[in-house]
Amino acid sequence: MKVDVLLGLQWGDEGKGKVVDVLTPGYDVVTRFQGGPNAGHTLEFEGNKFVLRSIPSGIFQGGKINVIGNGVVLDPALFKGEIDALEVSGHPLTERLKISKKAHLILPTHRLLDAAYESAKGEGKIGTTGKGIGPTYTDKISRNGLRVGDILHNFEEKYSKAIARHKEILKQYDFEYDLTELEKAWFEGVECMKRFEFIDSEHYINNALKSGKKVLAEGAQGTMLDIDFGSYPFVTSSNTVCAGACTGLGVAPRNIGEVYGIFKAYCTRVGAGPFPTELFDETGELMRKIGSEFGAVTGRPRRCGWIDLVALKYAVMINGVSKLIMMKSDVMDAFDTIKACVAYKVDGIETNQFPFDLNEGAEPVYVELPGWKTNMTKMQSEDEFPEEFNAYLTFLEEQLEVPIKIVSVGPDRAQTIIRYND
Ligand code: GDP
Ligand code: IMO
Ligand code: MG
Repeated sequence: MKVDVLLGLQWGDEGKGKVVDVLTPGYDVVTRFQGGPNAGHTLEFEGNKFVLRSIPSGIFQGGKINVIGNGVVLDPALFKGEIDALEVSGHPLTERLKISKKAHLILPTHRLLDAAYESAKGEGKIGTTGKGIGPTYTDKISRNGLRVGDILHNFEEKYSKAIARHKEILKQYDFEYDLTELEKAWFEGVECMKRFEFIDSEHYINNALKSGKKVLAEGAQGTMLDIDFGSYPFVTSSNTVCAGACTGLGVAPRNIGEVYGIFKAYCTRVGAGPFPTELFDETGELMRKIGSEFGAVTGRPRRCGWIDLVALKYAVMINGVSKLIMMKSDVMDAFDTIKACVAYKVDGIETNQFPFDLNEGAEPVYVELPGWKTNMTKMQSEDEFPEEFNAYLTFLEEQLEVPIKIVSVGPDRAQTIIRYND
């Protein structure tokens, strides 16, 4: 068997959590491969709403194993909060969730470093989620990190050494802080983690594949936030693209199967950085209002704009997307016309190639399509789609050269239309 990968093609928050939950019945194992609690994946079903940060979105479907892979960075304190919230709501987790020994730990001081680096950047700050993601990956790459497996061996000593190093750096930044409460919550989190099995996840996943099990890898963030291919430096610190599933799980490239690329019918971004199709007018405001575009983790208003096909084509290419999934189609129900950016003007020259540095300015070139002005939220099958909506789908499929398999018409699990089965 091969690992299917589901990942975001825009700047995150495409609706990955919802669709992973919908697809989970077809899989045995669901696994996260990168990112950490900077993610906020929302799931809605049977009148409940959950936001997951580190735990894979397959956790609500019984009989499935969820794995936090080696490429993930994990904050024990936030992890405990997530576990507690799920267990209060009656979802048993101990047997369903396993954690890679090689996943890196976000230490309490990583969060402080994140804040210190951001404030030192002043105007040029990234607008991170403040969860210590960058500093933790920095320590991983510079070979100073602590991993989940370290908890089991001589941990106090390794922890104290790492914290002392961080304190030195914080001193250089004149950063004031009080670690006491943070550390208390963090160590309670470590105790909570010990209830779960720490595994050699690369063996676990590969053995699962060998024995015919189906594995779904759940991306976090989105392609435009990828450390290599996103709008650098306004990106996150991991490889959010499909290749990240290989390194973040220990799966060989030839063992990747379907690549599900997920995008909104429009586009959003949280935090700083370039966003060519961003709208600053009432149209953008309307998208934010209808789409409830406020960060699942930070509550920050999301910046909104039209769909950007230059960026999407680039994302389809980098990830080798085999199936597309379009989310939040219903948010466009109210619009008379829908715009799609098909090219950029860079230095006055039109191009449809994603440029080296989006920060240097890219003016969107739009085509306009008629809106459908129909409430789609209760639709159950594509037979009910309005003509204009079908035309929008066809236009996108022609532009992106990949079929759209799933259309989402609302936040609930049930508001999902699978256009065809393979
Ligand atoms: P993720 O990070 O990719 O999992 O996405 P988020 O959960 O951060 O953001 C997606 C938001 O849109 C959540 O509030 C979802 O409940 C909501 N959502 C998902 N699909 C749809 C949809 O088709 N229509 C509408 N209106 N909301 C949706
Ligand atoms: P999900 O998985 C949207 C953004 C932050 C910031 C930049 C760097 O829910 O789609 P970081 O804390 O990672 O160092 O922040 O990346 N960002 C996200 N934006 N969705 C996310 O995750 C994000 N995770 C990080 O806003 O601009
Ligand atoms: Mg999110």
